[in-house]
Amino acid sequence: MINLAILISGRGSNMDAILSAVKSGSIKNVNPALVISDKAGAEGLKIASEKYGVPVRIVPSNGAKGWEYDQRIVSLLSEQDITPQNGLVCLAGFMRIISPEFVRLYRMHMLNIHPSLLPSFPGLHAQRQAIEYGVKVSGCTVHFVDEGVDSGPIIIQRSVPVMEGDTEESLSARILEQEHIIYPEAVRLFAEGRLQVKGRVVSIHHLA
Ligand code: GAR
Repeated sequence: MINLAILISGRGSNMDAILSAVKSGSIKNVNPALVISDKAGAEGLKIASEKYGVPVRIVPSNGAKGWEYDQRIVSLLSEQDITPQNGLVCLAGFMRIISPEFVRLYRMHMLNIHPSLLPSFPGLHAQRQAIEYGVKVSGCTVHFVDEGVDSGPIIIQRSVPVMEGDTEESLSARILEQEHIIYPEAVRLFAEGRLQVKGRVVSIHHLA
């Protein structure tokens, strides 16, 4: 059984999609052990506890950065037995840069979703960046987390068209629909032990 932590900062719709897939049984072998938010008012906290009964913790930054902050997350993870060996940490709209120390500890056990076709448009406001650049296709990416910003090995991507007249909101909504499909799918593949990583290339091992 894989103990799962989901880290959020806000709405938590990707978290909702993952927890729903676990609850319905389409993701097996995963125990949702903890949801952590750096923001006390994150809407996702209510969804996690009331809809799914998953324990939640708030870890406000109070100015702490990097490993000083991340250490507090790591101790909560170990309290819930979400270890680098048996655990999975999903960043789902967690709007903080993860310190290299935390990344190294959970290497290949930490996933992120990003609302662009990486390596295009890493960082903040990816959808706005795509519109302003004038690309005709954007999308979303689930990847393993490495020490860079949105730069780790790519697991799944989905594309969506950028339409004439799109706003940041309309493009974000179109991308989000696809995020809700690929993030649970990536967690499922991880839980089934089907992701093989060589260098930065992830291959999906097909079941016989
Ligand atoms: C999602 O669109 C996610 O891809 C994005 O924040 C949103 C969170 O929504 N993440 C990033 O931009 C990370 N750089 P949610 O809280 O409803 O899942």
